[in-house]
Amino acid sequence: MRKNLLHAVPSLATQLQRTDFNSDFLWGTATSAYQIEGAAATDGRVPSIWDSFCEQAGTIRDGSSGAVASDHYHHWAEDLDIAQSLGSNAYRFSISWPRIFSGPDSKPNPEGLAFYSRLVDGMLERGLQPWATLYHWDLPQYLQDQGGWASRDTVHAFVEFADVITEHLGDRVKHWITHNEPWCTAMLGHADGIHAPGIKDFKTAIQVCHHVLLSHGLATPVIRANVADARIGLALNLHPISAASDKPEDFAAARLHDGLRNRWYLDPLYGRGYPQDVWQALGDYAPVVYEGDLQAMAVSTDFLGVNFYFPEIIEHAPGASPLNTRLVDAVGVERTAFGWEIAPEGMTSLLKRIQDDYQPHAMYITENGATYDDHVDNDGQIRDELRRDYLIRHLLAVKEAIRLGCQVKGYFLWSLLDNFEWAEGCSRRFGIVYVDFITQKRTPKLSAHWYRDFLLETEKAKDATTTAKAATAATQQSQESSAA
Ligand code: FCB
Repeated sequence: MRKNLLHAVPSLATQLQRTDFNSDFLWGTATSAYQIEGAAATDGRVPSIWDSFCEQAGTIRDGSSGAVASDHYHHWAEDLDIAQSLGSNAYRFSISWPRIFSGPDSKPNPEGLAFYSRLVDGMLERGLQPWATLYHWDLPQYLQDQGGWASRDTVHAFVEFADVITEHLGDRVKHWITHNEPWCTAMLGHADGIHAPGIKDFKTAIQVCHHVLLSHGLATPVIRANVADARIGLALNLHPISAASDKPEDFAAARLHDGLRNRWYLDPLYGRGYPQDVWQALGDYAPVVYEGDLQAMAVSTDFLGVNFYFPEIIEHAPGASPLNTRLVDAVGVERTAFGWEIAPEGMTSLLKRIQDDYQPHAMYITENGATYDDHVDNDGQIRDELRRDYLIRHLLAVKEAIRLGCQVKGYFLWSLLDNFEWAEGCSRRFGIVYVDFITQKRTPKLSAHWYRDFLLETEKAKDATTTAKAATAATQQSQESSAA
């Protein structure tokens, strides 16, 4: 059984200071367009696959959608003010493709471009380094009607989208994430069917995955051509995986699952092609790959974005999945309200494994956070101690990974705001800022106060030390000159 660290948090917190991290470490929060923007039919935006998916009965737990969500489209200035007030110095957001292109032959929508231009200027004015994600799951519906990610044409449409956006914003945005979590796009959207576009076909999912990785590979040189000093990467959801028992078949199953969950992405991106063990196990499910695809996918990047949430335990289970593997629930572990196991030590081991096996130029935690059943107390406060503790423990895990030699250069907390959490709707709150979805009032939760104190108090302490040192030096100098 894993160690229960929760009771130890107050003392753990004292082990964590901003100054434990390099002074150029990036501290941010993350969001995505469909989850927060709302304004689904405003200023020329056309429907995305998520608008269509939400309209189908039974797809979203509470029947909600991203049509209004946190109405960030109209509240962006206030939201950026909050991000700034936290003392963060970076902000990860995504660009809504259906705000930019409205049809197969359409010209880029000037109103959509203007929105992101304002947003980026707003970040820069507030000292927030913009980190833009190009694809965070909101494909325009007209592209889905033509086959979506299952079609190679979407790869080229994505490259065109990347070209237009980076040409428009590249003078101010230097950090680009091509894709967020290709595994989710492929598997949740096309195998499990629990995300848009709701397809349930494993073979399609594997092909989609190939197209998504290929589009990353083909877009990257285009972004570089538009933005000379660009820093480009993508964000993968990666998981530490272990076997359910000591049995050799469970070990083999865990290795295969790791192959499909982690190596299937990392290997081709780092120039090794698809992992052969998984390729063979896939048999007829293996994707159609054209000559040159693997070379394109292996394009050099500047960083790897790691989204970390939970570990997985696997057993051998014939017939349970295409690779004969099955997830096993850990017993006696702590979980968030989503049921996701809390395992900060797994984050350290995952980062170390990536560092050792792939040596990325740099890693950024592009997402990490938790959902809990927050409630507003009578005095209007939201005391989400569990989320604060989750964050402290994961930051300690990052600190430990850095001590072990991992090149982690920044941390983006998921999420700045409560938002539309995909199939879970607005019922799962991940924000450190509470959003009342009726009034759109924002209230920083206790976790936001903690993050701000963590980011600003140690800065103040540093300033105080510098001031004290300067004062001592000045006194010494004046004593010396009076003695002379
Ligand atoms: C990740 C997604 C993000 C959010 C968090 C909780 O998989 O990238 O949009 O839903 O999970």
